[in-house]
Parts: sequence; C-alpha cells; structure tokens
Amino acid sequence: MKEEKTPKVSLVGAGPGSEDLITIRGLRALQEADIILYDALVSNELLSKVSESTPKIYVGKRCGEHSFKQNDINTLIVENAFKHGHVVRLKGGDPFVFGRANEEIEYVESFGIPVSIVPGISSALSVPSSQGIPMTQRGISSSFWVMTATKRDGSFSEDLKFASQSSATMVILMGVRKLMEIVREVSKYRESSMPIAVIQNGTMKNECCVIATLNDILHKKNTIDVSNPGIIVIGNVVAGHPAFFEEEIQRVLHSYI
Ligand SMILES: C[S@@+](CC[C@H](N)C(=O)[O-])C[C@H]1O[C@@H](n2cnc3c(N)ncnc32)[C@H](O)[C@@H]1O
Repeated sequence: MKEEKTPKVSLVGAGPGSEDLITIRGLRALQEADIILYDALVSNELLSKVSESTPKIYVGKRCGEHSFKQNDINTLIVENAFKHGHVVRLKGGDPFVFGRANEEIEYVESFGIPVSIVPGISSALSVPSSQGIPMTQRGISSSFWVMTATKRDGSFSEDLKFASQSSATMVILMGVRKLMEIVREVSKYRESSMPIAVIQNGTMKNECCVIATLNDILHKKNTIDVSNPGIIVIGNVVAGHPAFFEEEIQRVLHSYI
C-alpha cells in the first residue's frame, strides 16, 4: 500500500549563490524534501547536492525568461504538498528579503498546511562582504540601508532619496537595469566623488565587480551586463575595495593630463 504523505512546506533560504553558503539546516531540509520548487538565483551546484530522484521544479521570475506569476507559484506549492508531502520552497538569499515569503506563507497556511522557515544568508550582506566591502566601518559608516530602487509601478522609491540624504551605506537590490537613473538621483544628494560598486553573480565563479565613483560610473556602463541581476553599493566604505585605490590613481593621473 502507498504511504500517505503529510503535506508540509519549508521555506528555505539558499544563500547568495555559492552552493556552500546555504545553512546546514537548509541543506538538511533540501535532502529531506519530497519535492523542491526553486528560484532563478539558486545554483545548479546546490541542486546537485540533492538526490536525483527528488523532483525539482523551476519557478523563477527573472526578467527576459519564462516568468512564473506569484499566484501560480502559490498554487503549485499547495498542489505539490498534497501530492508529494514535504515541499521545500527554495528561495535566493533569505526568504524574507524581497522574497514575497509572507504571501506564500499566508496562502499555504490557508489550506491548513504547516510552514516552517529556514533563514538564509541574504545577498544584501554577503555579496558586498565577499568583495571585502564592509557594510559599516568605524568612523566611516555607522549604518546601512538595504532597499530596492523602484516601487511596483516603476517609480523611484522615496527611500532612495531619504537614504541618499543620510550618511548610511546604501545597498540597492534589483536596480542594475536602472543604474544610470539611480546614479543621477543619488547624485542630487551625495558628492560626485562618492564610491560606488556594482556586483553581479556575487559569491559565484563568474562574480564580477565594477568599482567607480558616482561621477565616473557613467563611463563604465558598457562594462556592466544589465541582463544579470546585481547589487549596487554606494558609500565611502566602498573606498576600502582594492580596485578603488587603483582607480583613484588613474583619476588623479588623468586630472593632470
Ligand atoms: C528578488 S531579490 C531577492 C533577494 C534575496 N531574498 C536575498 O536575500 O538575497 C533578487 C535581487 O537580489 C540581488 N541578488 C541576489 N543574489 C545575488 C548575487 N549572487 N549577486 C548579486 N546580486 C544578487 C539582486 O539585486 C537581485 O535582483
């Protein structure tokens, strides 16, 4: 007789990308799952740590690719919990940082299915950190502000203005496509010499990082592939990146030519 599976859902943070930056608890949940529903920024290397016999369904929402609507994802989670038992909903970074986890939890729980959360290492912290960019630094920055640049309707979030007016390190997610508009907006409030970093595929083998100032990032825009998601960091803490020092020498040399 076929064993009846009790439906349950674990919302698991996968970490920023590198397969060894998931938590031990997260990996355990993956290995115990009956089925995995995973996001766009989850690496194949991480999925390969799970038995081939565990079904894995891609439910990513990346621009330019087939994109799943949030309602469809919610329905898939519930259907698969009733069909397979333990669903692991694997989400990039931490489930509660721009992850719409609350919508999934509310929907799943409305069917009486229990949900547990396994926190993940958010890209907001770990991607700058892996580049050696501190979020806070004594005497330089005493806070950081993690934000998205745009609201649902595409307009700039008021937070972008307020953060620009503060002395906080700004960490902007989902902003690479609007990099130039963001730089123009921030430049209204911050000095043009303020350092900025754009980090893509952070913590992974193809990680890349462009370092500049608000003033000269415009000249580097062609080196950034805007089809890849990335994190923008704006603040004096970025000056600690070794590339900033090299760039600074070039800037000084050029100012004498
Ligand atoms: C929908 S948000 C989800 C964030 C996620 N919950 C977290 O805590 O990292 C996706 C955004 O996170 C950022 N992101 C996630 N992983 C990244 C990585 N490995 N490198 C650079 N940016 C990343 C990008 O700004 C991307 O557009």
